Amino acid sequence: MDVVEVKELTKEYYLGKTLIHALKGVDLTIRDRDFLAIAGPSGSGKTTLLNLIGCIDLPTAGSIKIDNIDVHGLSSDQLAELRAAKIGFIFQTFNLIPVLSAFENVEYPLLQRKTKKDERKKGVMNALKSVGLETFAKHKPDELSGGQRQRVAIARALVSEPKIILADEPTANLDHQTGAAVLEVMKRINEEQGTVFIFSTHDPKVMELANRIVQLMDGKIVP
Ligand SMILES: Nc1ncnc2c1ncn2[C@@H]1O[C@H](COP(=O)(O)OP(=O)(O)O)[C@@H](O)[C@H]1O
Ligand SMILES: [Mg+2]
Repeated sequence: MDVVEVKELTKEYYLGKTLIHALKGVDLTIRDRDFLAIAGPSGSGKTTLLNLIGCIDLPTAGSIKIDNIDVHGLSSDQLAELRAAKIGFIFQTFNLIPVLSAFENVEYPLLQRKTKKDERKKGVMNALKSVGLETFAKHKPDELSGGQRQRVAIARALVSEPKIILADEPTANLDHQTGAAVLEVMKRINEEQGTVFIFSTHDPKVMELANRIVQLMDGKIVP
């Protein structure tokens, strides 16, 4: 089954009066259970592609289907709904809320969904358990290491049981070994729960863990 289908995707930005061609016709199919790395140098379009797949930005041209739903023509409410139902995000800088505990950070998406308290607690603890942090539930981000913070972010992405998790350079702010360990956690979740991961990276060691690698260069996929 295809989970994401991208066709002739083009994205242009204006920087002042200069037109930047960030993506120049990208075709990409992502299948159930994929653990896909998007590799490529800085400026090659990785973040742009992930943001388009995540429906947090709209393409200039081309089509995106998420789970067979064409995102073209959806209202912003419908896009938000699609995102909440099917997509989780992990960021380079973790983006945890500093005043909230690990538990509360992971709980956050469930509060927005108005999930009941008992169910929230169960979901949050399951998500923390799957990243090996069930004993750190009460810790605030500044009481956790970088690798632990990113694992909390993985748990937060996971808690709403999305089909797809998008991770933009999730290991860029971690040392090599910690980064690889974080990727191993993602890989295990991919294998055990079938969650599709699409992550961008520069790191060849991290790429090795992917079951598929797509190389971006100057806004195009290298054949
Ligand atoms: N919001 C924006 N406005 C203008 N140009 C942008 C914007 N976002 C990205 N770009 C440009 O698009 C190209 C691709 O950027 P990006 O997708 O961030 O690449 P990567 O993540 O691979 O480093 C770069 O030339 C970048 O400068
Ligand atoms: Mg980027």
